[in-house]
Amino acid sequence: MFIRSTERLVRPEHMNAAGALFGGVMLAWIDEAAAIAARQLFHTPRFATVAIKGGVEFRHPVYLGDLVLLRSTLIKVGRTSIAFRVEAEVFDSPNKTPVCVVHEIVFVLKDQQGKPFPHGFSPSLVTQTP
Ligand SMILES: CC(C)(COP(=O)(O)OP(=O)(O)OC[C@H]1O[C@@H](n2cnc3c(N)ncnc32)[C@H](O)[C@@H]1OP(=O)(O)O)[C@@H](O)C(=O)NCCC(=O)NCCS
Repeated sequence: MFIRSTERLVRPEHMNAAGALFGGVMLAWIDEAAAIAARQLFHTPRFATVAIKGGVEFRHPVYLGDLVLLRSTLIKVGRTSIAFRVEAEVFDSPNKTPVCVVHEIVFVLKDQQGKPFPHGFSPSLVTQTP
Protein backbone atom coordinates (compact mmCIF):
# COMPACT_ATOMS: atom_id res chain seq x y z
CA MET A 1 0.00 0.00 0.00
CA PHE A 2 1.30 3.47 -0.88
CA ILE A 3 0.12 5.80 1.91
CA ARG A 4 1.43 9.27 2.74
CA SER A 5 0.36 11.56 5.59
CA THR A 6 0.66 15.30 6.17
CA GLU A 7 -0.62 17.58 8.95
CA ARG A 8 -2.19 21.04 9.14
CA LEU A 9 -2.97 23.21 12.17
CA VAL A 10 -6.31 25.07 12.16
CA ARG A 11 -5.61 28.79 12.56
CA PRO A 12 -7.99 31.80 12.85
CA GLU A 13 -7.77 32.59 9.10
CA HIS A 14 -9.14 29.13 8.29
CA MET A 15 -12.46 29.58 10.10
CA ASN A 16 -15.96 30.19 8.72
CA ALA A 17 -18.59 32.51 10.22
CA ALA A 18 -20.07 29.62 12.22
CA GLY A 19 -16.82 29.06 14.12
CA ALA A 20 -15.69 25.90 12.33
CA LEU A 21 -13.08 25.17 9.65
CA PHE A 22 -14.17 26.53 6.24
CA GLY A 23 -14.87 23.60 3.91
CA GLY A 24 -12.95 25.17 1.00
CA VAL A 25 -9.82 25.28 3.17
CA MET A 26 -10.21 21.58 3.94
CA LEU A 27 -10.57 20.83 0.21
CA ALA A 28 -7.41 22.81 -0.57
CA TRP A 29 -5.53 20.89 2.15
CA ILE A 30 -6.79 17.58 0.75
CA ASP A 31 -5.77 18.53 -2.81
CA GLU A 32 -2.33 19.53 -1.53
CA ALA A 33 -1.91 16.41 0.62
CA ALA A 34 -2.74 14.15 -2.32
CA ALA A 35 -0.50 16.24 -4.61
CA ILE A 36 2.38 15.75 -2.14
CA ALA A 37 1.77 11.99 -2.29
CA ALA A 38 1.68 12.13 -6.11
CA ARG A 39 4.90 14.18 -6.12
CA GLN A 40 6.62 11.51 -4.02
CA LEU A 41 5.45 8.81 -6.42
CA PHE A 42 6.13 10.60 -9.74
CA HIS A 43 9.39 12.27 -8.63
CA THR A 44 8.41 15.31 -10.74
CA PRO A 45 6.03 18.24 -10.21
CA ARG A 46 4.76 17.88 -13.81
CA PHE A 47 1.26 16.56 -13.07
CA ALA A 48 -2.22 18.00 -12.60
CA THR A 49 -5.33 17.34 -10.56
CA VAL A 50 -7.92 16.33 -13.15
CA ALA A 51 -10.98 15.19 -11.16
CA ILE A 52 -12.55 14.48 -7.79
CA LYS A 53 -14.88 11.53 -8.09
CA GLY A 54 -17.24 9.74 -5.76
CA GLY A 55 -17.93 12.92 -3.81
CA VAL A 56 -16.68 14.66 -0.70
CA GLU A 57 -18.07 14.00 2.76
CA PHE A 58 -17.75 16.56 5.55
CA ARG A 59 -18.72 14.32 8.48
CA HIS A 60 -17.78 16.36 11.56
CA PRO A 61 -16.87 20.02 12.21
CA VAL A 62 -13.23 20.94 12.85
CA TYR A 63 -12.34 23.71 15.31
CA LEU A 64 -9.69 26.34 15.96
CA GLY A 65 -6.47 24.78 17.22
CA ASP A 66 -7.27 21.29 15.93
CA LEU A 67 -4.38 19.39 14.34
CA VAL A 68 -5.68 17.79 11.13
CA LEU A 69 -4.01 14.63 9.82
CA LEU A 70 -4.48 14.05 6.09
CA ARG A 71 -3.86 10.51 4.89
CA SER A 72 -3.64 9.80 1.14
CA THR A 73 -3.94 6.18 0.01
CA LEU A 74 -3.22 5.15 -3.57
CA ILE A 75 -6.35 3.41 -4.84
CA LYS A 76 -6.03 3.36 -8.66
CA VAL A 77 -3.27 3.25 -11.24
CA GLY A 78 -4.12 3.91 -14.89
CA ARG A 79 -1.86 4.53 -17.89
CA THR A 80 -1.18 8.23 -17.32
CA SER A 81 -3.29 8.73 -14.19
CA ILE A 82 -3.27 7.71 -10.55
CA ALA A 83 -5.92 8.23 -7.88
CA PHE A 84 -5.90 8.59 -4.11
CA ARG A 85 -8.52 8.34 -1.39
CA VAL A 86 -7.90 11.05 1.21
CA GLU A 87 -9.15 10.93 4.79
CA ALA A 88 -8.82 13.79 7.26
CA GLU A 89 -8.78 13.07 11.00
CA VAL A 90 -8.35 15.32 14.04
CA PHE A 91 -5.33 14.34 16.15
CA ASP A 92 -6.19 13.20 19.69
CA SER A 93 -9.92 13.45 19.02
CA PRO A 94 -12.07 10.97 20.96
CA ASN A 95 -13.93 10.58 17.66
CA LYS A 96 -11.71 8.19 15.68
CA THR A 97 -13.68 8.39 12.42
CA PRO A 98 -12.56 10.76 9.63
CA VAL A 99 -13.91 14.32 9.77
CA CYS A 100 -13.74 14.54 5.97
CA VAL A 101 -13.30 12.05 3.12
CA VAL A 102 -12.54 12.57 -0.56
CA HIS A 103 -13.25 9.22 -2.15
CA GLU A 104 -11.12 9.63 -5.27
CA ILE A 105 -8.84 12.42 -6.43
CA VAL A 106 -7.22 11.85 -9.80
CA PHE A 107 -3.84 13.14 -11.01
CA VAL A 108 -2.44 12.94 -14.54
CA LEU A 109 1.27 12.94 -15.35
CA LYS A 110 2.13 15.37 -18.17
CA ASP A 111 4.95 15.69 -20.68
CA GLN A 112 6.85 18.91 -21.48
CA GLN A 113 4.00 19.98 -23.78
CA GLY A 114 1.37 19.43 -21.08
CA LYS A 115 -0.06 16.28 -22.70
CA PRO A 116 -0.83 13.12 -20.68
CA PHE A 117 2.27 10.96 -20.40
CA PRO A 118 2.47 7.25 -19.42
CA HIS A 119 3.92 6.94 -15.90
CA GLY A 120 4.87 3.27 -16.31
CA PHE A 121 3.40 2.11 -12.99
CA SER A 122 1.54 -1.19 -12.77
CA PRO A 123 -1.96 -1.38 -11.23
CA SER A 124 -0.42 -3.84 -8.75
CA LEU A 125 1.24 -0.80 -7.10
CA VAL A 126 -2.09 -0.29 -5.31
CA THR A 127 -1.40 -3.36 -3.17
CA GLN A 128 2.42 -3.21 -3.13
CA THR A 129 4.79 -1.02 -1.14
CA PRO A 130 7.08 0.72 -3.69
C1 LIG B 1 -4.67 16.86 -17.25
C2 LIG B 1 -5.01 17.06 -18.73
C3 LIG B 1 -3.75 17.36 -19.51
C4 LIG B 1 -5.57 15.71 -19.23
O1 LIG B 1 -5.99 15.91 -20.56
P1 LIG B 1 -7.16 15.02 -21.16
O2 LIG B 1 -7.39 15.47 -22.56
O3 LIG B 1 -8.29 14.95 -20.22
O4 LIG B 1 -6.44 13.62 -21.22
P2 LIG B 1 -7.04 12.20 -21.55
O5 LIG B 1 -8.48 12.25 -21.94
O6 LIG B 1 -6.05 11.57 -22.50
O7 LIG B 1 -6.95 11.46 -20.14
C5 LIG B 1 -5.72 11.28 -19.50
C6 LIG B 1 -5.95 10.48 -18.26
O8 LIG B 1 -6.74 11.25 -17.35
C7 LIG B 1 -7.89 10.51 -16.99
N1 LIG B 1 -8.99 11.46 -16.83
C8 LIG B 1 -9.26 12.52 -17.58
N2 LIG B 1 -10.38 13.12 -17.13
C9 LIG B 1 -10.80 12.39 -16.08
C10 LIG B 1 -11.91 12.48 -15.20
N3 LIG B 1 -12.81 13.45 -15.30
N4 LIG B 1 -12.02 11.57 -14.22
C11 LIG B 1 -11.12 10.57 -14.10
N5 LIG B 1 -10.05 10.42 -14.91
C12 LIG B 1 -9.92 11.33 -15.89
C13 LIG B 1 -8.14 9.56 -18.15
O9 LIG B 1 -8.90 8.44 -17.73
C14 LIG B 1 -6.72 9.19 -18.50
O10 LIG B 1 -6.23 8.25 -17.57
P3 LIG B 1 -5.33 6.96 -18.01
O11 LIG B 1 -4.31 7.42 -19.01
O12 LIG B 1 -4.69 6.51 -16.73
O13 LIG B 1 -6.28 5.96 -18.59
C15 LIG B 1 -6.07 18.17 -18.97
O14 LIG B 1 -7.35 17.67 -18.58
C16 LIG B 1 -5.76 19.42 -18.17
O15 LIG B 1 -4.78 20.10 -18.44
N6 LIG B 1 -6.64 19.74 -17.19
C17 LIG B 1 -6.44 20.89 -16.32
C18 LIG B 1 -5.68 20.43 -15.07
C19 LIG B 1 -5.57 21.54 -14.06
O16 LIG B 1 -5.36 22.68 -14.40
N7 LIG B 1 -5.76 21.16 -12.78
C20 LIG B 1 -5.79 22.10 -11.69
C21 LIG B 1 -4.45 22.51 -11.20
S1 LIG B 1 -3.32 21.20 -10.90
